[in-house]
Amino acid sequence: MINKKYPKWILAGAVVLTLNACGDGNSGNPQERSERTKMMIANAKLARDPHSYAQPNEVRVKHLNWVASVDFSAKVITATATYDLEHITEKNEVIFDMKGLQIDGVKVDGVPAKFTVGAEKEFIGAPLIVEITPTAKQVSISYRTPQGAEALLWVDGESPFLFTQSQAILGRTWLPCQDSPGLRITYDAQVTVPKNLMALMSAENPIKKNDTGVYSFKMDQPIPSYLMALAVGDVEFRSLGDRTGVYAIPSLIDAAAYEFEDMQKMLVAAEKLYGPYVWGRYDVLVLPPAFPFGGMENPKLTFATPTIIAGDKSLVSLIAHELAHSWSGNLVTNSTWDDFWINEGFTVYFEERIMEEVFGREYSEMLAQLSRQELDATISEISAVNEKDTWLKLSLENRNPDDAMTDIAYNKGYFFLRLCEETIGREKWDIFLKKYFTEHAFQVMDTEKFLAYLKSNLAAEKIEEKVNINEWVYAPGIPANIPKVQSDKMEKIKSVAEEFVSLKIIVGAIKWNDWSYQEKVYFITSIKDVSAAQMKALDRAFNITSTKNNEVLFAWLELAIRKNYSTAYDELESFLVEVGRRKFVAPLYEALVETNQKDLAVKIYTKARPSYHSVTIETIDKMLD
Ligand code: BES
Ligand code: ZN
Repeated sequence: MINKKYPKWILAGAVVLTLNACGDGNSGNPQERSERTKMMIANAKLARDPHSYAQPNEVRVKHLNWVASVDFSAKVITATATYDLEHITEKNEVIFDMKGLQIDGVKVDGVPAKFTVGAEKEFIGAPLIVEITPTAKQVSISYRTPQGAEALLWVDGESPFLFTQSQAILGRTWLPCQDSPGLRITYDAQVTVPKNLMALMSAENPIKKNDTGVYSFKMDQPIPSYLMALAVGDVEFRSLGDRTGVYAIPSLIDAAAYEFEDMQKMLVAAEKLYGPYVWGRYDVLVLPPAFPFGGMENPKLTFATPTIIAGDKSLVSLIAHELAHSWSGNLVTNSTWDDFWINEGFTVYFEERIMEEVFGREYSEMLAQLSRQELDATISEISAVNEKDTWLKLSLENRNPDDAMTDIAYNKGYFFLRLCEETIGREKWDIFLKKYFTEHAFQVMDTEKFLAYLKSNLAAEKIEEKVNINEWVYAPGIPANIPKVQSDKMEKIKSVAEEFVSLKIIVGAIKWNDWSYQEKVYFITSIKDVSAAQMKALDRAFNITSTKNNEVLFAWLELAIRKNYSTAYDELESFLVEVGRRKFVAPLYEALVETNQKDLAVKIYTKARPSYHSVTIETIDKMLD
């Protein structure tokens, strides 16, 4: 089977599996056989996706050629997207998802064609229906993005920047596409940007600015549309290892290169665990602080918030997380957003394993403890609103996926997989997981398919008898057999926190400066009953309000709001105006609302809103309406 002629990603598994699974015969040479099996995977019938108008079981797109021009003064991308088609049936139309795009013209095989744009529905947008013949090869769509296209954030100022955020269903706001995670395309692109800026995509990337402002991209491995990404800015590249590097604005590049120094080690650790990294390079792009997420696993080029640059490498587990998605998510992809935990639960599990490999078990157990604490908090928060949102398997029909993609998928998913590991033993579990990633590379996975695979591969281990699988996946809350996190350090913190709250110890007895960021966050989130005076004493001793660690700062600011510790309010305001990362800003506005400080929330939000991304704006608008 192994033949050096094939691209590495094919050898990584997709072909190996289907030879067995699809019973592909032995006729033809290896190349033909491999082409045939690739087609079989690619043409497999896809599940219905309630968040896409596309009909991939009739006609699906295979390859995209994207020619685009980015105009910063008008804040518009003007582009032509040319797709190669594959006909599964003889259907005479092909349907794309789009939202808000202005369509300037459509051609089929070079000839102007008829098209209609259906009625626009809330959050899913409209279908773009193009008339074709059953032999049509290509559809070309010329279009421009509207003002306020939701995926895009145009950052003005000294260092202008543009970035996209496509997951979950925002790809369609900057590119007409068959926007369902089960569908994959390869692409190439040519993007024209202002001459002082560089363009980057989820593809093979340039490492230097050029004089023309024209950049070419190639993505040879098929990816789902939610991983389509573009960023444009005045960035520099710094190599970190033979396959890893970082891009950031000049004023941040040194700090970023220092912070992410261990990236190559993480890559090596990840490969040791679950098989080769098949995407070629792994680079990280540091985005402006308005980026609404911590990180986004755009293939070959993770997009990351600058809020993880703490100066001491303490927040790099986020990089391990996005790197892990190169297997869980980008190689084996959730079928629809109902199976989101297939992406995120596996990724948190894998992230913890990478962190354990590189920084030791004690370190990763502290992360796991924070994960458990978050899980408890999320369960109690959303159980009351919609208990079914605490299942691993979601039901998002008629809902905006963004509303229910909570950290249940992440943390409950993590603990479920950890339970499997602990039940059958790490050695067998690792063999299983490696096989799972290899055999399903470049394929879709849904919850049911995974559970069937789990049960059949681990039948000898009696996994079904030992783990109450259904209670984890199709039931609310936290099952009683959730694994116990074992961290002496975190237990110690818990008792120090209790003693401090009950005035048994004073600030002088706290060894704050010796603590890791996990311990600091755990301490702050465990002193819910402190007084403002106690916060003041802590702040005097340890300058917490001025910390450079944004996880610590965030936890501290939330506590400050709840305890009316107003000394921290100037910092609160600058943090909220500067940072648009939703995981931080949403709970802070929420805390203000819950403590009768809505006026202050509105005042700060009025100032901050113009620089936030639509994803964050959606959430905060609802909160403060
Ligand atoms: N893929 C997610 C981000 C995402 C999820 C975007 C759903 C849109 C919809 C990414 O991998 C992620 O999980 N990021 C986390 C960081 C992680 C360490 C938990 C984040 O942004 O906070
Ligand atoms: Zn993730």
